[in-house]
Formats: sequence, structure tokens, C-alpha cells
Amino acid sequence: MKSILMTGATGGVGTFLRKEFANRYRLRLSDMRPLTTLGASESFMAGDCASLDDMLRVTEGVDGIIHLGGYSVEGPWETILQSNIIGAYNLYEAARRNGVKRVIFATSNHAMGFYKRTARIDHTPYPRPDGRYGLSKMFGEGVASLYADKYDVSSLCIRIGNAAMQPIDVRRLSIWISPRDLAQLIGIGLEHPDIRFAIVYGASDNARGWWDNTNAQCLGYRPVDRSEDFAAEVLRAHPATTGDAIADAHQGGAFCTAEMVENPAK
Ligand SMILES: NC(=O)c1ccc[n+]([C@@H]2O[C@H](COP(=O)([O-])OP(=O)(O)OC[C@H]3O[C@@H](n4cnc5c(N)ncnc54)[C@H](O)[C@@H]3O)[C@@H](O)[C@H]2O)c1
Repeated sequence: MKSILMTGATGGVGTFLRKEFANRYRLRLSDMRPLTTLGASESFMAGDCASLDDMLRVTEGVDGIIHLGGYSVEGPWETILQSNIIGAYNLYEAARRNGVKRVIFATSNHAMGFYKRTARIDHTPYPRPDGRYGLSKMFGEGVASLYADKYDVSSLCIRIGNAAMQPIDVRRLSIWISPRDLAQLIGIGLEHPDIRFAIVYGASDNARGWWDNTNAQCLGYRPVDRSEDFAAEVLRAHPATTGDAIADAHQGGAFCTAEMVENPAK
């Protein structure tokens, strides 16, 4: 079994990925928070992404990395700077120094949040982050690109929509990804021999999706879950619009409206 480091392992995504990968990889779990209960093929090493020394320690001797660690919503600049921006740099620099050749970077739809919901975007348009969090993910994608081109550390950057057991509102019908679909995509990212640097969307087979995920399909991704199976239930429980016109118009939803200055032109 390959030995895989998973940063941010005590978080929501890490917790369900551990179940998906239990019999497939030897998992070295890492987080700044403690973790005491471990499975048979798991070990734990505490580490803060903001510390290069910590990242050098936790990346030593692994075959690949799933980088989930970081602040996972909009937050204060200093937190985003330390955990996501310096954190992403440290992770890649540590991978390079330790000879780790493959990283899966958990980026976000919020790197593209200011695209309209009427746009169908693939991995090629210029990012339009909807806040400091989205900006930090755009930076992380940039680090991944640099380390692929210059240092031969290859990456699959997965712009995750919303990873959860099921979509919980109307926006998430467009961006949801199930745990098993995300695990499939990460597995492709860890195993595919031809990945150098690629950006894909982390989305299930969503009829209301906004993304052209051909790039993921070309790598062999075949999502098995469909948000439409939950649509009737979601639409019964939630109005079609939220009453926030900016949020409803843009892919990033309420992240776009947050802190926006009053602008009558919008
Ligand atoms: N959950 C989603 O739907 C979603 C969507 C888009 C992107 N993502 C990204 O996927 C990753 C995992 O998301 P999640 O929902 O599990 O988030 P989460 O907040 O539940 O987990 C993130 C984990 O990272 C750890 N962490 C934060 N700062 C750290 C640091 N400086 N050093 C070490 N560990 C640190 C936290 O302790 C936490 O356990 C994040 O990078 C997030 O931005 C998630």
C-alpha cells in the first residue's frame, strides 16, 4: 500500500475520506488539532501548515499528499495568510525537499466565485475569487503550477464545490460532490501516471451544474452520484432564491455579497 499524507485530517472532508481510503492507502494523518482514535492502517503526526519545520517533518517518506489543511471558509486576513497562503507554500516546499512527487490540493469553487451562474466554465478562465479565502485557493493553485513546472512536483487541484453526504440547498444542487465521488477523483489524482498539473472541479453528476468538467473526465473520472436525486426534497424545503440578488446571481453565493460595498451599478 502507498503511504499517503493527509493534512487537515480531523476536518469534515478528512473524516469521510478516511473511511473511503481505509483499505487502500497507509494514511499518515496530520492536523493542528489532536486525533486519538486511529484505524489499523492510520498513524497521526501533529503539524501546523504555517510552520515549514512541521511540514518538513510530516511530509518525510510519503508517496503522495492530500492537502486539506487550512482555514476552510472566509476568515480574517492573518488566519488566511498563515494557514492557507504560507501553509500552501510550506506544504509544496516541504514536498519538494523530501522528494514527494504528487500532491492533491483541495482548492475551492470560491476561487471562481464571481463568475455568474449563467456562465459555464471549465478549468481555463482566469480566477475570480470571491474573498480572501478564494484568493488563498487561487494562490495555492499558482504554487501547484510553479512546483510542477519548475520542481517536478505534480499536482491535481480539485476545485471542490460542496463535499457532503447530500446537497442541502438550491445552490448546492449545482456544486455538490459525494464522499465516494471525491474519493474517486482523489484516487485518480494520486494514481494517474500522466498528471503534471491539472485543475478539475470536485462535483458529482449534477444536472444543474455550472462547470464543464471535461478535464476530470479525460483523466477517467466517472461520478456515480447525482444531486438531482435529492432535488425534489431540497426544493420542497428551500425557496428557489435567497432574496440576496448578488448571491443568487453568482457561483460563490453569499461569499460574493459578504463585505461588498454598496454599488448601485450592480
Ligand atoms: N467541505 C467542502 O465542501 C469544501 C469545499 C471547497 C474546498 N474545501 C477545502 O477542502 C479542505 C477540507 O475542507 P473541510 O470541509 O474538511 O474543512 P474543515 O475546516 O472541516 O477542516 C480543515 C482542517 O484543517 C485544519 N487546519 C486549519 N489550519 C491549519 C493549519 N494551519 N495547520 C494544520 N491544520 C490546519 C483544521 O484543524 C481542520 O481540521 C479545506 O482546504 C477546504 O478549504 C472544502
